Amino acid sequence: MVPPLDPNPLRQGLVEDPTSDACAVVIFGASGDLTRRKLVPALYNLAWGRSLPGGFAIVGVARREKTDESFRAELKEAVAQFSRRKPIDATLWSDFERGISYVRGAADDPNTYATLRASLERTDGERGTQGNRLFYLAVPPAEFGHIVEGLRASKLIAPPGHDDGGGAWTRVIFEKPFGHDLASARALNDAVASAFHESQVFRIDHYLGKETVQNLLVFRFANSLFEPVWGREHVDHVQITVAEDIGLEGRGKFYEQTGVTRDIVENHLMQLLCLTAMEPPISLAADAVRDEKVKVLRSLRPIERSEVSRVVVRGQYGRGVVRGEEVPAYREEPDVSRDSRVETYVAMRCSVDNWRWSGVPFYVRAGKRLARRVTEISVVFKEVPLSLFSTQAGGITPNVLSVRIQPDEGIALRFITKEPGQQTILRDVAMDFRYGTAFGSNTPEAYERLLLDAMRGEATLFTRRDEVEEQWAYIDRVLQAWAADGPPPSSYPAGAWGPEQADDLISRDGRRWRKP
Ligand code: BG6
Repeated sequence: MVPPLDPNPLRQGLVEDPTSDACAVVIFGASGDLTRRKLVPALYNLAWGRSLPGGFAIVGVARREKTDESFRAELKEAVAQFSRRKPIDATLWSDFERGISYVRGAADDPNTYATLRASLERTDGERGTQGNRLFYLAVPPAEFGHIVEGLRASKLIAPPGHDDGGGAWTRVIFEKPFGHDLASARALNDAVASAFHESQVFRIDHYLGKETVQNLLVFRFANSLFEPVWGREHVDHVQITVAEDIGLEGRGKFYEQTGVTRDIVENHLMQLLCLTAMEPPISLAADAVRDEKVKVLRSLRPIERSEVSRVVVRGQYGRGVVRGEEVPAYREEPDVSRDSRVETYVAMRCSVDNWRWSGVPFYVRAGKRLARRVTEISVVFKEVPLSLFSTQAGGITPNVLSVRIQPDEGIALRFITKEPGQQTILRDVAMDFRYGTAFGSNTPEAYERLLLDAMRGEATLFTRRDEVEEQWAYIDRVLQAWAADGPPPSSYPAGAWGPEQADDLISRDGRRWRKP
């Protein structure tokens, strides 16, 4: 089916629709939530947008007993429920599903890989996938090692650069979390490096696939207006908020192992900080961008153990009301220990020790069961050196540039203006840009962009080995301090903006959290 032309003229010419080489996407963890909610709906939407190559197939691998038919039926239901395009297009689906098959097997069983190999060879013949493979490891990190070893031992990995000479390529995507701490991330990286070249490895952080996150690069480096004021001369401080109103969504076991620091701060939040603070790269080539992000991570002032309780606040939600509904406390959630010390909220004061940002604090916070879902970066500028207006005119608040990542994606600049009338009364107003209004709201999901990029071998929006290790190195000190001692997480009622201690963290510096 040919998709209808988009009636919004602002979108014309924006959709590049780059396609990849023919390939098979092999999903380990095919029975899992990620496959159902994100991966297959994303691939379906790519098919809808005609972004998939002609030779394309999906091979699911998991432990459960399934036939190709039952796997396809299950995925059809998932796409109907989770695709951003509804209803499902029957003609497109029937073509798409012909390329879907299922291999049953455990990650640590060598037979799994023998069966997979045979299935992929058959797929190459039937679907024209030309021996190119994108392996997606949508499984817990404990299984990464087994799969890497299984693929290596069964010779399912083409040598790097093989495709330059017209041969087939192999690439692998690792779903987050990549490790549990610095030591395990390093060990994992070593295991991965023993089987793959770094150019074949794609560590996913789905925040980098979000349109608004990609737009941060465009906003900063395609406009001349903001760059000169982007730094210590003009910026007072930066706030980054990743707030969710949802709770655990049945992931109690996972959360007891992770907590919000490993789940959100170590990856999504650190990436937002990097993109906000990085220097202009020399090009948009993957390594040029990643080099600049790594420099930011290396400039982060390490948080000493003795400092943790002063610059980091951890919280855990109690009972409360979210979106008008009473919700249980974290400790009352299924699979959560009744005396758990796992944090569901973190606020930190980070310092980027380089020339651009010296003396400009980055206050970052992330949490579950907060008042509402919002991800936002706010750059708060310095106040005017001297107010010329009487106190009756009202206070002068600093200019703020807010980049709203989600929802209501957009960018707002707050400034002071005069209220109309005979008297001079000052008023803080916003100049607002909204994606939805300018471009329509049916933007691609992060996983669509990232899957397509990996199929094309484009790694800019994926994290490199050194980046992941630097992220862990920074966060690990905090985690170790918490493990060794320190007070338990402070409680906050579900539906609030976090514990009071988080307000103290920022008010000690004479500032306050912005209400997103
Ligand atoms: C995931 C976390 O990486 O990101 C989840 O594991 C979290 O806990 C999710 O809910 C948030 O993603 P998004 O795209 O909804 O902001």
